[in-house]
Amino acid sequence: MTLRKIAQVGHPILRETARHLSREELASEEVQSFIDDLVETMRDAQGAGLAAIQIYESISICAIEVGDNPRYPYKPKVPLTILVNPVIEELGDERFNNYEGCLSVPNLRGVVSRSMRIRIRAWDRHGNDIDEEIVGITAGTYQHEVDHLNGSLFLDRVTESKTLCTWDAFKRFYEAEFAESVRAIVERVGS
Ligand code: NI
Repeated sequence: MTLRKIAQVGHPILRETARHLSREELASEEVQSFIDDLVETMRDAQGAGLAAIQIYESISICAIEVGDNPRYPYKPKVPLTILVNPVIEELGDERFNNYEGCLSVPNLRGVVSRSMRIRIRAWDRHGNDIDEEIVGITAGTYQHEVDHLNGSLFLDRVTESKTLCTWDAFKRFYEAEFAESVRAIVERVGS
């Protein structure tokens, strides 16, 4: 496995729409080994997710995993999930404010409005169908990663620029309150 470089905001590849894969391509040794690199790079950078486009491959694959993550200590755990050709459908009108950061946007966080409930349709890394309802904070993580595959960054969705802050300022001034709102969401919807 190889650790890949992560594209930073301003690089045009982050604005591309990722190409969907066929099942044959997905099954190839090249793509399977690429997925291993994606996971290793995400874990090394302590990301909660990483999209292929962030490591300079404009193909529709992303990884999501939340364990004991020092970047996001309040996030509910998510087992390693690989989404291939993911499509999100928002379910209902309920939204919540999510304080997001991104490995492609160094040292900046901001508040983004996310749908509370989504339906995700995708393949797993073996080409098996995924069709699930995802809720709450975890749904926010899914929306962030699938946005990358559509050429969007969380910055595009920050409606109040006053919420933008460094990671240090987040810890000092906003984390306690945000962690409390996360706990309330997890308690109510389950993740
Ligand atoms: Ni990101």
